[in-house]
Amino acid sequence: HTVGLSPVGGAIQLEAVDLEKLAASLGTPVYVYSSAAIAEAYRSFKIAVGEDVSICYAVKANGNLSILAQLAQLGCGMDIVSGGELERALAVGVPPLRIIFSGVGKTREEIAWALDTGIHQFNVESASELDLIACVAEGRNVRAPVALRVNPDVDALSHSKISTGRKGDKFGIALEQATALYARVAASPFLEPVGLAVHIGSQVMHLEPYRRAYARIAGLTEELRATGLPVHRLDLGGGLGISYGHGTPPDLGSYAGVVRDTVGHLCAELTVEPGRRLVGEAGVLLTQVLYIKPAEDADIVVVDAGMNDLARPALYEALHPVTMLRPRGGPTRPCRIVGPVCESADAFGLYTHLPALMPGDRIAFLSAGAYGAAMASTYNARPLVAEVLVDGSRYAIIRRRQTVAEMMALEADSRWRDMKSN
Ligand code: LLP
Repeated sequence: HTVGLSPVGGAIQLEAVDLEKLAASLGTPVYVYSSAAIAEAYRSFKIAVGEDVSICYAVKANGNLSILAQLAQLGCGMDIVSGGELERALAVGVPPLRIIFSGVGKTREEIAWALDTGIHQFNVESASELDLIACVAEGRNVRAPVALRVNPDVDALSHSKISTGRKGDKFGIALEQATALYARVAASPFLEPVGLAVHIGSQVMHLEPYRRAYARIAGLTEELRATGLPVHRLDLGGGLGISYGHGTPPDLGSYAGVVRDTVGHLCAELTVEPGRRLVGEAGVLLTQVLYIKPAEDADIVVVDAGMNDLARPALYEALHPVTMLRPRGGPTRPCRIVGPVCESADAFGLYTHLPALMPGDRIAFLSAGAYGAAMASTYNARPLVAEVLVDGSRYAIIRRRQTVAEMMALEADSRWRDMKSN
């Protein structure tokens, strides 16, 4: 569930770093990532899909600058969904021509900035977004490279809250409307039709939904080409699942086979947008047991990490595997691990494989590299936690822990202003 994690003489190490010692010296909660695991995930993805398929990492999964920098150095492009993510990608030196702008709600300012930056492609999700992009491009007298994100009406068979390709989901343009809209792109002097995009959801554990979605995109591509419209690029989205301790994620080689079978014959430039698959299994969240509340069926174990640090269990009933950082034997005792936040949803789940935990024990939530730190909040005035990158026996604090003073500083200038004088 976490690559590079191994028990070494009674200690749990990430690469060659003893996580118990690290947690003791830096404090908890803290996210820790393995740079070797990230590099390995990128390389195996690249080898599976082939050198000619570009990989644009979905920054939303983990936008830490050090992680983006590492991926950028490996040649990875970026899939962004906001001006903030654009700024992050540019800050680590990602060439604009490796940046794709996705998302249903791009603002005028974000569109303008992305155009001025000269990004590779806008994945457009609605007719009204198309109009705005054309309008902003006209103001600059440029042509915006546009791919239409199509909603293929395919169920990704994942959690409903992270499925995006069903009819009625807010994402993409309905297949029936795509042809007319693509013609509209081609007819505009300020829009350049470059291709199609599709993304069916996240933590997808089966290849069949990909096969169906890609086949529909292939059909649409042929239909558009038959009317003389150019479709040079296909963006196949992300979503490949990882291991959270149950179920086997799709094998990369088989995924690449689905890509070849469905769209290989179209001779299009292909892009994929994995997020979770590149960083998810490369990270852990370390936390410490604060209190035990004994109960008949399962002890309630209160840890110092909460739903504000790792929201996935509260949002999607996700269960992250847990290991003790100093594993010990003895009879197992069922426990429900919960956080300190004042919400009943602040619970990580029921675990039955651990010995009776005690205050002071440190544990790790595994497979926490994606959508962990990235989705954190400061709810309950809890500062954003630190993030650490490990490389062999070395570590770097790639984000220090936020202070409460920093949080409060945003609220410092709260004087009254009069609308009448504006
Ligand atoms: N491309 C697009 C257009 C996306 O919307 C997403 C994710 C990706 C690529 C990357 O998907 P991935 O390969 O990481 O599955 N917070 C949720 C996941 C939300 C995914 C949103 N979109 C979670 O923690 O499970």
